[in-house]
Amino acid sequence: MFSLPKNVTLIEVGPRDGLQNEKNSIPTDSKLAYIHALQEAGIQEMELTSFVSPKWIPQMADAKEIVGQAKKVGRQIVLTPNEKGVSTALHAGAQNMAVFVGVSNTFNKKNINRTTEEAVNALFPVVRQLKEKKHFVRACISTAFHCPYEGWIKPEQTIALCQQFIDMGADELSVADTDGMANPAASFSLFNNLKEHFPHTLLTAHFHDTRKLGLTNIYASLQAGVDRFDTSAGGLGGCPFAPGATGNVATEDVLYLLNTLDIHTGVDLQKVILAVDEVAPYLSRPITTAMYQLSKQ
Ligand code: HMG
Ligand code: MG
Repeated sequence: MFSLPKNVTLIEVGPRDGLQNEKNSIPTDSKLAYIHALQEAGIQEMELTSFVSPKWIPQMADAKEIVGQAKKVGRQIVLTPNEKGVSTALHAGAQNMAVFVGVSNTFNKKNINRTTEEAVNALFPVVRQLKEKKHFVRACISTAFHCPYEGWIKPEQTIALCQQFIDMGADELSVADTDGMANPAASFSLFNNLKEHFPHTLLTAHFHDTRKLGLTNIYASLQAGVDRFDTSAGGLGGCPFAPGATGNVATEDVLYLLNTLDIHTGVDLQKVILAVDEVAPYLSRPITTAMYQLSKQ
């Protein structure tokens, strides 16, 4: 029997990953109500929004308003792909940045119109500068297991890309199963490997629940010693440039799992459900997570 962490941090990505792919326009006030209700539930780290091209991701066009109006609670992060996004985010008052690149070249061409090498080279001075000014930098590593265009990714490739962000000075690696192809054996193996390679870095697992293996992947990652997970209240989410991928593993379902294992998060499951209610009326699909559905019976 493996010993599991006693405390886990949930990084809420619902307001960013969760909403970015929603076709219906969601009022900024409802996004803020979702964010504030998640803070009320005890969330201390959250991706609030992203500073990306509104032509590519129209739903995130109100990023400045979100950063300006969200209550300042814990570590609030914004996602951005490039120097322009970082500069606009800093002007809007954001302090903590998430940058993102996939291991797969083809995915990067579709998602950010750059090859992996072009994206990494362009981000190098940007991340270095952010670190000189003491900003927190999270590096999101997409297609760490599998790419919807190129197939399976070798662990060495993922580790090599992670190393490049560590060399830039990133504080956190959020390692993502973008299209929900990971399984418990692969999750245990990759995160065990990453823990050995990067023992002094915050290491976070980001699972999409396309094949409903998200919770089993989380359990396997806990066994590998991971104590940080990106989750999305309502199980919303998915990258528009990862065809077929569905939402992130749901905050409320992960909380149920962690509560049964007596692992402390400081987050209240019932209050997370109340947060989901703030955006549910605007969504183009029903909320199908186990704990949300049970709460409505
Ligand atoms: P591009 O068309 O190559 O950009 O797009 P460009 O550099 O040629 O510039 C074209 C125009 O975009 C210019 O404006 C720039 O100023 C503007 P114009 O002169 O035509 O008026 N522009 C920007 N505008 C706002 N914010 C910016 C920005 N940068 C340039 N940051 C670009 C390249 C990266 C901008 C585009 O491809 C893009 O925005 N992609 C974002 C895609 C995205 O958000 N995907 C989802 C997030 S990643 C994800 O979900 C995965 C993750 O969850 C982990 C996982 O699950 O794998 C993190
Ligand atoms: Mg994602």
